[in-house]
Amino acid sequence: MIITDLAATQAIGVALAEGIEAQHWPACLLLFRGPLGAGKTTLIRALLGALGVTGTVRSPSFTLIEGYPLAATTVQHVDLYRLNDPAELEDLGFADLLNGRDICLVEWPERAPRLTAQADLLVDLEPLGLLRRVDWQARTPLGSRLSARLPV
Ligand SMILES: Nc1ncnc2c1ncn2[C@@H]1O[C@H](COP(=O)(O)OP(=O)(O)OP(=O)(O)O)[C@@H](O)[C@H]1O
Ligand SMILES: [Mg+2]
Repeated sequence: MIITDLAATQAIGVALAEGIEAQHWPACLLLFRGPLGAGKTTLIRALLGALGVTGTVRSPSFTLIEGYPLAATTVQHVDLYRLNDPAELEDLGFADLLNGRDICLVEWPERAPRLTAQADLLVDLEPLGLLRRVDWQARTPLGSRLSARLPV
């Protein structure tokens, strides 16, 4: 779908947060793809805020992983832009994140192509001038349930 403004991107983050809450905060892996400036962090900030994360959400460009502990679970915000080699994921303890406990939100999963096979949901953002094209694809039944509240 084509969205026209920042608020619409944020609404998608909120709808995903509602899906996560409705499913009782399941462990999941959501991947956010798209070029620099597409709006991945913007969307994830809205998602985290709707889940109850307070304070600033910094883009984890340098730390690669930023964890947000919440009452129900921990949300991991990951940005793999600076990953040089998928093998570095091991050093980051990434396997631990996919251990079936945490909610993992990953920007730049293109840097670690094998993650796609493990994902519940792929979200693609494409800038079209001031507009954005947003597409999503559930890869598991959980992914379908999590994305059930997204606008058509
Ligand atoms: N409809 C829109 N959705 C999202 N961002 C928008 C929109 N319109 C304008 N913007 C602007 O585009 C920028 C998106 O930046 P953001 O950091 O979210 O992108 P990103 O995909 O995370 O980039 P990076 O690959 O560098 O991490 C912000 O400055 C935001 O204000
Ligand atoms: Mg970003």
